[in-house]
Amino acid sequence: MEPPAPGEVLMSQAIQPAHADPRGELSAGQLLKWIDTTACLAAEKHAGVSCVTASMDDIQFEETARVGQVISIKAKVTRAFSTSMEISVKVIVQDTFAGTEKLVSVAFSTFIAKPVGNERIHLKPVSLLTEQDRVEHSLASERRKIRLQHEETFKNLMKERSKSDDAIGDGEEGTVSTKSTSVQSIELVLPPHANHHGNTFGGQIMAWMETVANISASRLCQAHPFLKSVDMFKFRGPSTVGDRLVFSAIVNNTFETCVEVGVRVEAFDCQEWAKDQGRHINSAFLIYGAVDDKQELVTFPRIKPVSKDDFRRYYGALARKRIRLGRKYIISHKKEVPLRVHWNINNQVSLSDGNVEALQKLAAKSGWEITSASEKVLPDH
Ligand SMILES: CC(C)(COP(=O)(O)OP(=O)(O)OC[C@H]1O[C@@H](n2cnc3c(N)ncnc32)[C@H](O)[C@@H]1OP(=O)(O)O)[C@@H](O)C(=O)NCCC(=O)NCCS
Repeated sequence: MEPPAPGEVLMSQAIQPAHADPRGELSAGQLLKWIDTTACLAAEKHAGVSCVTASMDDIQFEETARVGQVISIKAKVTRAFSTSMEISVKVIVQDTFAGTEKLVSVAFSTFIAKPVGNERIHLKPVSLLTEQDRVEHSLASERRKIRLQHEETFKNLMKERSKSDDAIGDGEEGTVSTKSTSVQSIELVLPPHANHHGNTFGGQIMAWMETVANISASRLCQAHPFLKSVDMFKFRGPSTVGDRLVFSAIVNNTFETCVEVGVRVEAFDCQEWAKDQGRHINSAFLIYGAVDDKQELVTFPRIKPVSKDDFRRYYGALARKRIRLGRKYIISHKKEVPLRVHWNINNQVSLSDGNVEALQKLAAKSGWEITSASEKVLPDH
């Protein structure tokens, strides 16, 4: 990885046993924490004030990293809007013995400059030094439209579903109930989990979420789950030092060799804790694969939803999969992509023709890593 350009932040970490899961691979929670910290430092370099994570776009992990290898994370602000800014993050794993370097992930997150008192901070524009900076700057506003419409797109797909039939999947009956995959855990937010203003780090919350989601997935497959991707999500409200965070995870649905786990996070300060009235600060959806003792991919059993909530989660997972597929389809098909995308029933796609054109332009550029990464389409996506 080249040295950081002006405005970029570079983190390099040698992977130690304490960072690894039982298979000796870098734990996804640790990586999410490093990604969020690097992105936060890039945001603060631009803003000049303390910043917090507002949202994270879909993240896919293309490579795993092992103890003894080196992780390099580069982050920079691609565009400042009013109080929020988009950060691009690129993660590379280096094996210094083998002399190899592989792309692990390209991700985008949004950070908000924390207001000083009651005053909202309006950010200065980003200086665009290269052609690539300019391309990313224009794409950033396209990606922003997608993320701000994400909840609406999801709701529309769910409405369509409830209007049409309620047959399960492709008409095939599932066999397994998800009841036994329900996991709950609790964490007390302490000063090391937060910035100097006492705001909990988004990456720390992501790492805790990953722990419970991983346990939930393992209950279904009795094998070692590994995180393949995280669906786009938003931090709905803040959390601070002293909060108790309650994490609830359950398997929502399975897709042959992968499984979607949903995690809900509620925060309670001392008074809220006594009254049992929490704040829903975040829900995220994590997609896992799993390997058995012979390192072979496990095929998950099909789910049989029973309760009303089971059905909501089951169809929610299908809708999210369709949205992810739509985004991936557009990015991976370069010039052949049609401008009308068929994955949304009403063609109410969250991607306008302008979005598609902009994404095509980026995908067609040589050396833009997500293109080659997304060509390695995994069976579920
Ligand atoms: C992020 C947060 C401020 C947005 O709240 P909101 O009520 O939607 O606020 P607004 O509508 O005024 O939007 C504020 C900014 O957030 C942006 N925003 C809102 N939803 C977003 C999303 N899903 N993704 C990216 N940016 C988003 C808006 O575009 C706006 O940006 P702008 O000022 O540059 O135009 C609020 O949800 C929050 O405080 N979240 C917790 C953040 C936090 O503490 N994170 C650390 C982990 S707990």
